[in-house]
Amino acid sequence: MATPKKASNTERTAKKNARKKNAASRKAKKPPTRTASGARPRPSTRPWGRAGRALEGVRVLDFTHVQSGPTCTQLLAFMGADVIKVERPGVGDITRGQLRDISGVDSLYFTMLNGSKRSITIDSKHPKGKQILDRLVRQCDVLVENFAPGALDRMGLTWDHVHKLNPRMIVASVKGFGPGPYADCKVYENVAQCAGGAASTTGFRDGPPLVTGAQIGDSGTGLHLALGIVAALYQRIRTGRGQRVLCAMQDGVLNLARVKLRDQQRLRHGPLTEYSQYGEGVPFGAATPRAGNDSGGGQPGWILKCKGWEHDADAYVYFITQAPVWGAICDLIGKPEWKTDPDYATPPARLPRLRGIFDAIERWTVTKTKFEVMDICNKRDIPVGPILSMKELAEEPSLRSTGTVVEVDHPRRGKYLTVGNPIKMSDSPADVRRSPLLGEHTEEILKKVLGYSGKELAEIKASGAITAPEKPAKAEAA
Ligand code: COA
Repeated sequence: MATPKKASNTERTAKKNARKKNAASRKAKKPPTRTASGARPRPSTRPWGRAGRALEGVRVLDFTHVQSGPTCTQLLAFMGADVIKVERPGVGDITRGQLRDISGVDSLYFTMLNGSKRSITIDSKHPKGKQILDRLVRQCDVLVENFAPGALDRMGLTWDHVHKLNPRMIVASVKGFGPGPYADCKVYENVAQCAGGAASTTGFRDGPPLVTGAQIGDSGTGLHLALGIVAALYQRIRTGRGQRVLCAMQDGVLNLARVKLRDQQRLRHGPLTEYSQYGEGVPFGAATPRAGNDSGGGQPGWILKCKGWEHDADAYVYFITQAPVWGAICDLIGKPEWKTDPDYATPPARLPRLRGIFDAIERWTVTKTKFEVMDICNKRDIPVGPILSMKELAEEPSLRSTGTVVEVDHPRRGKYLTVGNPIKMSDSPADVRRSPLLGEHTEEILKKVLGYSGKELAEIKASGAITAPEKPAKAEAA
């Protein structure tokens, strides 16, 4: 057996270097344990839906009122954030008293926009109230507000003040308009629908502009804000600091009406051929016109009468003449010859004849209920949609089973329906609970979140910072 040769110093150094090099390359090939956004934990082994909620651990200081802001914070609460709604003592969010259906009980307007939150009453203009708010600012991750421009600053909660107290704080606001000539204006839903381009493009050509029942100005902007907040929370993982998030209602509506700005630009190059006005030979003007029930996309559609329309306001169906199923539509309505007739066989040939085509389809739909139309068409892959009333939606079992419509129990009102989280997450079940009574959690938050002692709590109560003033504030209930 040969005696192993003793390695020379040079060889030893070379081997050592090679080992180092291998180790380095192994290290480089290993999947990173950290991402740009921070530590990457191992995948949870807990069953789906039992690993906490998406926004658990996020605390929101909620100064929102009416609809736009509350929509945003309610969604955050449904996703697990601890939302602390700050309300004026004795008054609260103005919507508690608006459109009341039961005397002395929080309105459905309020209860359906403030579920799963906690309520604390603080007079934000009282010196002691300001101290409490400063303490809350230090304890929270996000401050959300939708006051009229300048109101938050007048409370002393300027960006500089908040950021100094808590550099991690995200300050999110809804305003009616962004910077510009209307920045100081107060704005409500329909003002935003009008200023954002929705109203000028909604309704019939020969009628006035129309607003839509869907609250695209308020709830739509609240949705935009929620996305901004979640993105800011994500960025904060990397940067360690908060930022301001602003959603103007005009911008939110315009974002939702972007297909109409698309059409505005198309007008430069000719008529909008999918609008019924084209088929009717009515010339286009300088701006995107109102399009009645025309589809906003490339597949022509219209609302058609169904059986019973004479006495049921919602006995209608939306019918889309999607090109790939044109043959099936022709067979269904008894017009098989249209499949090969050059005036009807292709989408461009049909465009100037849409009115007549929908009249023919309606002669068929009017012989069926909207649900029969739905059944028959879906079997043939024809896209249609029944016009569902709020009554039908409230009673629809599938919406109950998915948690889109939820029944909750309120200590004063009893059971009521609310719209749960429309965003379904496989590992974060929605946390949909009733809305809080005014100031229901004041003591709990002062003690457990802010750590005030019993003695301090008594002092706060005596100061008038959390209780209603002797004379009730200006009655705002409608
Ligand atoms: N303690 C003491 N004062 C309080 C308070 C509290 N806890 N909470 C609110 N207030 C005060 C504010 O400081 C402000 O007083 P100030 O103007 O004297 O500074 C006042 O209550 C509320 O302000 P404001 O937002 O102007 O209410 P408003 O009822 O006059 O206007 C809107 C309502 C919705 C028009 C307005 O808030 C607005 O334009 N918001 C932005 C756009 C928006 O979200 N619109 C849609 C609403 S759904």
